[in-house]
Amino acid sequence: MKHLLSINDLSVEEIAHIFETASEMHDVQKREVKKLPVLRGRTVVNMFFEDSTRTRSSFEIAGKWLSADVINISAKGSSASKGESLRDTVLTVCAMGIDGLVIRHPASGAAHQVSQWVDAAVVNAGDGMHEHPTQALLDAYTLQRRLGSLAGRHVAIIGDLTHSRVFRSNIQCLTKLGAEVTVVAPPTLMPSGIDSWSRTAGFATSYDVDAVLPQADAVMMLRVQRERMAGGFFPSAREYTVGYGLTRDRLRLLKPDAPICHPGPMNRGLEIAADAADAAQSVVLEQVSSGLAVRMSVLYHLLAGEES
Ligand code: NCD
Repeated sequence: MKHLLSINDLSVEEIAHIFETASEMHDVQKREVKKLPVLRGRTVVNMFFEDSTRTRSSFEIAGKWLSADVINISAKGSSASKGESLRDTVLTVCAMGIDGLVIRHPASGAAHQVSQWVDAAVVNAGDGMHEHPTQALLDAYTLQRRLGSLAGRHVAIIGDLTHSRVFRSNIQCLTKLGAEVTVVAPPTLMPSGIDSWSRTAGFATSYDVDAVLPQADAVMMLRVQRERMAGGFFPSAREYTVGYGLTRDRLRLLKPDAPICHPGPMNRGLEIAADAADAAQSVVLEQVSSGLAVRMSVLYHLLAGEES
């Protein structure tokens, strides 16, 4: 594995291998001294052209706990705000001899494009509405720790599918691992072409949250991404919540042990009620700690090589 740009780059065996290493990395989080020497002398640059709390900080901590030197560059505060092109910014940073480049960018395909310009290992930390592979890996890892094998387990993904790279990566990852996936959204937030895509990729679609929830072994709520919406995709926030939110009433429809996931940041009261976000079966914070372990694993596999 040279880069991690898409879940499509990974075989089922490679995913299993990433998860095995992640579970070893998970143990590091429990230690008093959280450092492994495996990436000593390597340099990782986190280049974020979009806002981020958990993805950026977990890549930063992951690199540091593996003893890499990590620096962060964001669009605000870099020469990108002076009009420098993405290519020039990336080539400038890579001319310093870095080993890994973690990139988040609002343009779909940006990470793939960057990987063609540089020698460094590139990790896609979210490219527009396209993919977010480490999020899908951490989601599947979290669910597997809770449910065991995902083969034949039913996962419902509910929310703003159109604008969601988390959904696009998760569909690939969950179906690869044998899960049965049903995606639910209002018609205006269902991606165009979903009928033929769902037939080829082997997942189901629905507009009816109340019918899907009782069947689900796990539910993944997605954020309503208002920053990517040019016009009105639903009449009002209230109507969205009534139709598609995981409300207190809907919580009762879920199996009592079905994990509730959300990649964050959550719009509490819009797609997810506080009662659901804070329910005993919510794994939202577990996703964050698993995310760190999975990102340590990904950086290790990309930068340390199998021989280390
Ligand atoms: C997601 C993202 O940025 O794509 N969040 C994340 O990485 N934790 C989902 C979102 O922004 O809604």
